[in-house]
Amino acid sequence: MAKRRELLLIHERLCQRLHGPMMRRHWLLVGACGWVLLILMFVSKFINFSFRMPDDYGGRPVLLNWTSPAIKTVNPLNPLLQNAASQPSAASSGGPTQEELSDWESVMAQRLQLSSSVCRNSSLWNLTHTPLRKFVLDRIFVCDKHKILFCQTPKVGNTQWKKVLIVLNGKFSKVEDIPENVVHHHDTNGLPRLSSMSDSEITERLNTYFKFFIVRDPFERLISAFKDKFLENPRFEPWYKQNIAPAIIRKYRKNQRNSSGSAGLHFEDFVRYLGDKPGRKHLDRQFGEHVIHWLTYTELCAPCDISYDVIGHHETLEQDAPFILKSAGIEDLVSYPSIPKGITRYNRTKVEHYFSGISKRDIRRLYACYQGDFNLFGYQRPDFLLD
Ligand SMILES: *[C@@H]1O[C@H](CO)[C@@H](O)[C@H](O)[C@H]1NC(C)=O
Ligand SMILES: *[C@@H]1O[C@H](CO)[C@@H](O)[C@H](O)[C@H]1NC(C)=O
Ligand SMILES: *[C@@H]1O[C@H](CO)[C@@H](O)[C@H](O)[C@H]1NC(C)=O
Ligand SMILES: *[C@@H]1O[C@H](CO)[C@@H](O)[C@H](O)[C@H]1NC(C)=O
Ligand SMILES: *[C@@H]1O[C@H](CO)[C@@H](O)[C@H](O)[C@H]1NC(C)=O
Ligand SMILES: *[C@@H]1O[C@H](CO)[C@@H](O)[C@H](O)[C@H]1NC(C)=O
Repeated sequence: MAKRRELLLIHERLCQRLHGPMMRRHWLLVGACGWVLLILMFVSKFINFSFRMPDDYGGRPVLLNWTSPAIKTVNPLNPLLQNAASQPSAASSGGPTQEELSDWESVMAQRLQLSSSVCRNSSLWNLTHTPLRKFVLDRIFVCDKHKILFCQTPKVGNTQWKKVLIVLNGKFSKVEDIPENVVHHHDTNGLPRLSSMSDSEITERLNTYFKFFIVRDPFERLISAFKDKFLENPRFEPWYKQNIAPAIIRKYRKNQRNSSGSAGLHFEDFVRYLGDKPGRKHLDRQFGEHVIHWLTYTELCAPCDISYDVIGHHETLEQDAPFILKSAGIEDLVSYPSIPKGITRYNRTKVEHYFSGISKRDIRRLYACYQGDFNLFGYQRPDFLLD
């Protein structure tokens, strides 16, 4: 698009220059300019094509692979050099052009508009509003150096964002240097929580910093949490299988006779537990912090009570990640690889598979609990599960 616009401009100037002395051959001129235009448009196709090629070869199946700021090694006394150094890295990573970013700006603005209008809808009030208590402030991480607040939501590549903020805060100089066990250790990793600050410090940051968080389809997110915590459990967190699963099974499995010692939590048990908003309060208190993996985005980040600058979508991370970096003013400090198309895309087959055999009544109750998240962030009601 950018190229096309540029070429049109060149074309216009060409025509203007020819115009004056040749008034009489006006019609001939119009024809000639038409030809020039056609040729330029034809050429622009190839230019666009050649720019796209690197994208298509760019990716390995990694969600986000953050590399450390190249700028650290650049002499800060020479701003020209600095610019020159950041230029090629942006181009070679296949990053979006300025034009693409500004097109994306309207998409992001629409998201904010939608969520603020849903926030005002009184019939959804309890599903979209939450008090700004310590629990929410615990979710929000602070990068004072670059004035950024990031609310952590599970299952959307948050670890990568946290690593970036840790590097930006200066405790580590490269993303690769941060040990896995330190990323989530907020006393030592130099990435403080907003809750660790005084009221006036909190207010000041909420009012002036760049604020963002990332969401994804609410049901796919629950499936992802279920798989991660109760089926695969790759981080060896025994708590989920040994304490939470049995407690949910005891309360929510229909056929208790079959449950003793059987293969663990079923997605159906999980759905019945999640959909029982009032009934599960007691259990949730028992589960403590672990519930962050299935609490609503409203409960985690208070999107109607904090005016976020950007709401990222996992499904469009390819566009959203660079947009966030640019909006936060850190696009020259961190780079990212291209994310292969489709890897973050909503997978309806998977959703249908997980919900097959679960009663409509249970699914509707689940939807009723997560409707706020569906509506706030523009995710379609999954009619194929509910009707
Ligand atoms: C240029 O490339 C973009 C994506 O890189 C594509 O959406 C657009 O349709 C292309 N334009 C032309 C004229 O091929
Ligand atoms: C990121 O990708 C680079 C190559 O592009 C690789 O050398 C590096 O190990 C990757 N880092 C991580 C954390 O995966
Ligand atoms: C408020 O939300 C409900 C439930 O989604 C919807 O039916 C209604 O049209 C909304 N009201 C407005 C004013 O948007
Ligand atoms: C919202 O919650 C309050 C108290 O928690 C309750 O009184 C009110 O009826 C709820 N409103 C809706 C629409 O559910
Ligand atoms: C209960 O277990 C029996 C035998 O193990 C099996 O045939 C039956 O299908 C199970 N019922 C349910 C509801 O899972
Ligand atoms: C969607 O999920 C199904 C079932 O989990 C899987 O077999 C399929 O490969 C997925 N499709 C894509 C495009 O990832």
